[in-house]
Amino acid sequence: MLDLSGKHGLIVGVANKRSISWAIAQAAAAGGAQLALTYPSARLEENVRELAATLQNPLLAPCDVASDEQINDLAATIDREFGGLDFFVHGAAFAPQPELSNPYLQTSREGFRVALDVSAYSLVALTRAIAPLMEKRGGGSVLTLTFLGSDRVFPNYNVMGVAKAALEASVRYLAADLGPRSIRVNAISAGPIKTLAAAGIAGFSSILQVYRERAPLRRNVELAEVADAAMFLLSHASRAITGEVVMVDSGFHVSGI
Ligand SMILES: NC(=O)c1ccc[n+]([C@@H]2O[C@H](COP(=O)([O-])OP(=O)(O)OC[C@H]3O[C@@H](n4cnc5c(N)ncnc54)[C@H](O)[C@@H]3O)[C@@H](O)[C@H]2O)c1
Repeated sequence: MLDLSGKHGLIVGVANKRSISWAIAQAAAAGGAQLALTYPSARLEENVRELAATLQNPLLAPCDVASDEQINDLAATIDREFGGLDFFVHGAAFAPQPELSNPYLQTSREGFRVALDVSAYSLVALTRAIAPLMEKRGGGSVLTLTFLGSDRVFPNYNVMGVAKAALEASVRYLAADLGPRSIRVNAISAGPIKTLAAAGIAGFSSILQVYRERAPLRRNVELAEVADAAMFLLSHASRAITGEVVMVDSGFHVSGI
């Protein structure tokens, strides 16, 4: 077990018990970290509140990642309650439904804007807001979640693939900006997992099936396996790693056919 005791972390992107961010939150809490969790709207607050109740002393705060005001309020709340921050997990992503079932050619200007704003720009805005809190701790670790659709075409992944390409490039640019302040920025590229966000992608179960058949490990990944990799990237054990996209996908990405 990697040790996060005495550390404070922010986890953005918990919607329900199937959320990848929730699996990471549970692992981080088991490793001794004290956590702040966010909810994007009043509709999801109850869900997050119920899950957070199973953690030790969690901090709960609203944060729609499309709002600079809410991001700034969140950073101020964490500063007041925790007095600094050691790690941040970014697990927010969204694209309007039609963009995940129509051909990519039909992507609307507004759908493109929203997908890139919520799923990629939010990493920049949130990291900028919490970087001073990490500096108070002498550095920190930022982790986001991406998918191979950034690089290869998956049916109906569409504008989310474009958003993930922007997200992965942002990981590299942020790592370069923040490295001198000892803040590391990395991503996990997870294999497909049936979550709320995944359910929005038309034909998602056929992606799961192809991974099962073609990945070197001949199986899909589990939430706990992504969480274990996340623990490594959040902990001291990965202290020389930044700007990296770590593949946690049963090896699927190495397959030629
Ligand atoms: N499930 C997969 O197959 C898979 C694979 C690779 C990467 N990912 C990525 O993992 C991350 C987490 O997704 P998940 O699969 O756990 O699904 P999820 O639906 O549980 O999580 C997505 C989260 O984004 C949040 N969100 C959406 N719009 C928001 C906004 N405006 N402000 C704040 N939060 C907002 C949702 O509330 C939700 O908590 C996403 O970035 C997703 O793209 C998922």
